[in-house]
Amino acid sequence: MKRILYTISLGLAMVACSSGPQTNNSSVDQRVEDLLAKMTLEEKLGQLNQVSAMDNLEDMAAQIRMGRVGSILNGVGAARINVLQRVAVEETRLGIPILMSRDVIHGYKTIAPIPLGQAASFDLDAVQEAARIAAIEATTDGVRWTFSPMIDIARDARWGRIAEGYGEDTYLTTQMGVATIKGYQGDDLSDPTSIAACAKHFCGYGASEGGRDYNSANIPPRQLLDVYLPPFKAAAKAGAATFMTSFNEIDGVPSTANAYILKTQLRDEWHSDAMVVTDWASSAEMLAHGNCSDRADVAAQSINAGVDMEMVAETFIQNLPDLIKDGRVKMSTVDNAVRNVLRLKFRLGLFDNPYVDENKNVAYSPEFIEKTLKLTTESAILLKNDNKTLPFSSKVKTIALVGPMADAAYEQSGTWTFDGEAEHTITPLKALQSLEGVKVLYEPALTHCRDQKAAGIASAVAKAKQADVVVCVVGEEAIMSGEAHSLADINLYGKQKDLIEALSKTGKPLVTVIMAGRPLTIAKQIEESNALLYMFHPGTTGGTALADLLFGKAVPSGKTPVTFPYMVGQLPIYYNHKNTGRPAAGTELLIDQTPVGAGQTSLGCSSYWLDAGYGPLFPFGYGLSYTTFEYSNVKLSATELKVNDTLKVTFDLANTGEYDATEICQLYVRDLVGSVTRPVKELKGFKRVALKAGEKKQVEFELPISELAFTTLDMQNRVEPGDFKLWVAANSDDNSNEASFTVK
Ligand code: NOJ
Repeated sequence: MKRILYTISLGLAMVACSSGPQTNNSSVDQRVEDLLAKMTLEEKLGQLNQVSAMDNLEDMAAQIRMGRVGSILNGVGAARINVLQRVAVEETRLGIPILMSRDVIHGYKTIAPIPLGQAASFDLDAVQEAARIAAIEATTDGVRWTFSPMIDIARDARWGRIAEGYGEDTYLTTQMGVATIKGYQGDDLSDPTSIAACAKHFCGYGASEGGRDYNSANIPPRQLLDVYLPPFKAAAKAGAATFMTSFNEIDGVPSTANAYILKTQLRDEWHSDAMVVTDWASSAEMLAHGNCSDRADVAAQSINAGVDMEMVAETFIQNLPDLIKDGRVKMSTVDNAVRNVLRLKFRLGLFDNPYVDENKNVAYSPEFIEKTLKLTTESAILLKNDNKTLPFSSKVKTIALVGPMADAAYEQSGTWTFDGEAEHTITPLKALQSLEGVKVLYEPALTHCRDQKAAGIASAVAKAKQADVVVCVVGEEAIMSGEAHSLADINLYGKQKDLIEALSKTGKPLVTVIMAGRPLTIAKQIEESNALLYMFHPGTTGGTALADLLFGKAVPSGKTPVTFPYMVGQLPIYYNHKNTGRPAAGTELLIDQTPVGAGQTSLGCSSYWLDAGYGPLFPFGYGLSYTTFEYSNVKLSATELKVNDTLKVTFDLANTGEYDATEICQLYVRDLVGSVTRPVKELKGFKRVALKAGEKKQVEFELPISELAFTTLDMQNRVEPGDFKLWVAANSDDNSNEASFTVK
């Protein structure tokens, strides 16, 4: 069939050459204008249409020949993509290449930890590397556009897509998003190993009510500006090539019809010329939302709000000709959308170099595996380590390895793993079995994480009794988080809790390892385990990273990018909340301490839960090491500053334990009084600092005072003069190293 397509194409190739863009030396914008001037309305609308790949190549080719395809979603494979691209370039009148896209979310073949895990590393270089690896691998299969990074702020772990983002914090998410965009796009989008990034979901999707996916988000304007939009603003500044409108509505307006975010913010305020794509049929879904009367209305509202390309819904291609005739949509609006699409295609170098090298195979290269292993190791979080249970000493010769995630290659890769193959994935079982001098007694006990059959627990307990230590790997299967996989109960499922309880009763040192897509409510399992390592679905190298950490070849350094609640009822819970008028003192009576028949009074009442208290199980930014660190001697370069100044904060960090290790130091600030209420703390900086055992170093943060700006009572973005507190800290709940300064 390939041959047939090539032959048919020959004659038309001549036409394409003579009428196609020949403006190699002129600027991209000039080339866009030259091409636009030659296009018919039908050709223009074809460019605004993204179709989902069809299995049958001939059907796909027919669509392309009809000029209906600007972009294809999910059609991978170099040879296949070349066949289709040839049809576009050689058999259509203007020879406009197709933009091939795919959800490459945390790796293409070599799978990195899910983004939430990447965030736990606080390692921007490693995260940028991971995106670069994804880009190199994906481009060899013809992908030039990925729908990543997801930079939605997520403060509710019930939302399944918390797995896909960088957690609850605006600053961390912003930094991670920018690093990822840089990794995908490289220095030059036209490099054949670069892929266009997509900042998504624009905007507010992570605030879906109750954590139920696709639900409405209720975000007050000031919070939208200060919490949800900054990562997107930074993405625009970093040159993110595309943005995706989100499924949700905010205050009655679905994002796909939201001119405030798509025009006022993206274009007027941030001056971005990125191409805006809808999410999957999010335009047509406005019929279900109830803000559009029919598909013509959908097309009109979407394009008039600032959408450029429609993902699969095809309301543009079907309705825009009439809408233009009726005057509901201006031709200039369509032209602008086409410009944004063509500009991206020129920038990617698709006109000059449309085809993929079919003989390149770089997947899973040793270099990629090594770099991914580093990130995976850094993303593991040690949440408990009583009596130095970890790392294992050389006396540990027999390990009982149990649990449904101990050898679940697909599941440990997490959500959105389309292309990474399970046979390349190192599970804990594979990794531990490859160690010399260690005997592994393996018993999954449960066939999968939701398994309700407890029969295997007895044999796991029997194995535990024969071993020096027990490593129990539990968590969530990949499908339990991600899109449309929200949960109302975020406990461990199936009989996993019973398994841990039974193992803990053996009295053997119990190391629980959790591989999951979200923070789970694990208070009881923390108590029952001697040590607990949390790995947000760790991907291809998860088992190797775990083995290295268990035996001290690597030392844990990851910290929580999201608050861990005790109970699901605490959600949404996040560290940078407001103080309220009645902040909890921490001395409140809990339900068991409250006398029966106690009289009602509002005196002394404060903001807490009678059953859960006030704080979380683990705060944002928390994680242990095999060593200990001491912070001291905080000094400020000045205590009175002006808006244009930069404050230098220095402190000493000492490694007071026995292991060389890395600490993630954090800088938090509180604006004590504002024209509107301010968060109790805000992260403004972080640094990974490596110290040898016994070593001490001076560490410095730079804080440009302009970064203290927020949306004031009069809706202006500015720094308000006044008093501030700051903390250099090991986590968001660490108040031991405090200083104050004033902005004049
Ligand atoms: C829907 C998801 O919301 C989005 O994140 C994804 O990129 C698209 N589908 C395409 O698969």
